[in-house]
Amino acid sequence: MSKAKIRMAMIGGGEGAFIGAIHRIAARLDGMIELVAGAFSSDTNKCKATGELLGLDSSRCYDSYLTLFAEEAKLPAEERVDFVAIVTPNHLHFPVAKMALEHGFHVLSDKPATLSLVEAQQLQEIITKQGLLYGLTHTYTGYPMVKEAKQRIKAGELGCIRKVIVEYTQGWLAQSEDESSKQASWRLDTSKSGISCCMGDIGVHAANLAEYVSGLEITQLCADLNHVVDGRSLDDDGTVLLRFNNGSKGVLLASQVAIGDENNLRLRIYGDKASLEWSQLEPNSLWLRAHNQAAILLRAGVGVLHTDTQNALRTPAGHPEGYLEAFANIYSNFAKQIHAFKQGDSATNQEFDVPGIKEAVRGMAFIEHVVASSERDTKWHSLQIG
Ligand SMILES: NC(=O)c1ccc[n+]([C@@H]2O[C@H](COP(=O)([O-])OP(=O)(O)OC[C@H]3O[C@@H](n4cnc5c(N)ncnc54)[C@H](O)[C@@H]3O)[C@@H](O)[C@H]2O)c1
Repeated sequence: MSKAKIRMAMIGGGEGAFIGAIHRIAARLDGMIELVAGAFSSDTNKCKATGELLGLDSSRCYDSYLTLFAEEAKLPAEERVDFVAIVTPNHLHFPVAKMALEHGFHVLSDKPATLSLVEAQQLQEIITKQGLLYGLTHTYTGYPMVKEAKQRIKAGELGCIRKVIVEYTQGWLAQSEDESSKQASWRLDTSKSGISCCMGDIGVHAANLAEYVSGLEITQLCADLNHVVDGRSLDDDGTVLLRFNNGSKGVLLASQVAIGDENNLRLRIYGDKASLEWSQLEPNSLWLRAHNQAAILLRAGVGVLHTDTQNALRTPAGHPEGYLEAFANIYSNFAKQIHAFKQGDSATNQEFDVPGIKEAVRGMAFIEHVVASSERDTKWHSLQIG
């Protein structure tokens, strides 16, 4: 018997928005999810216009998320939305997620999960109390070769992990004139972005990727954040030293002022037997290097790869898959998790490989501790000679 499509509502992602359109493509890709309702903008007219442009029933193009939850909750179970995708600026993630859960809807939110660690912990309590599902779109965990790296480390191919280096550098905020875009203006405003711009926007992805692939947890950090462009109150660049729960160390580098860099996300993990290297600019390749041996280039779709990797691929080798498909893998896994939930099966995020509230809380802890650490000078030694 064919399964009914999972019904989705979207909050944010109106005209001119960036990530909302990507989420909609990702949700559609495997045919398991249907967008049926939305409140796409803070502007009531744009809300309706976007919904109608997307071909939604006009009765389900709501003028605000408040109306959406109130009205959708009144619909019969077989009609109302199953889950809500949150793609607004950061300050709305928590209030929207809270309200969605309290009205009985599962949530798939973009990151960072909330504006503060306290909010993330409150969210965790609400999820537990409501007994509903929560996913967080840490996009990069959706790449097939990232899953391959994770599984190879889990199988012990690298031996004991000694060092993790993760970099996420972009150049799109390199000059003050770059601040005029819709996306830049709220990211540099602490009331909408939170206490960090660069670390909250991309550093948190890098930290999540390092933990997801290595299977380790960051236990301590020492950060040096910068406001490179004059007049900014939030960081646009930073470096963080990391310590992991197995005693290994690492470095996390994030920047939005690295002129010429696109979305240059790169991860290198070194064990006592071998190392792995993955880069978003070549996402279908994974380098495996054993000590004193020729490097091995693993390619998506070629040879024997882990089942999780194969399941995350849609095309034969050499037909490139990328960002949209990685996003779609999170959506499809979340849809499968909702189906299992509906059948009363155990449906943990870990079982379905969907980043969830654990990652949400860890991400907010990362951001808060990075900012707090950077504000202290205690680790710094002035170079005094003589
Ligand atoms: N996972 C990823 O790879 C990734 C990539 C980019 C952005 N993001 C995250 O996605 C979120 C959105 O980023 P963006 O770049 O798309 O921003 P954006 O400014 O392009 O879009 C935000 C949208 O939210 C809408 N909005 C604002 N207030 C609203 C309200 N009260 N009700 C309904 N809609 C409202 C805006 O009108 C706009 O359409 C951010 O939290 C960001 O961190 C994640």
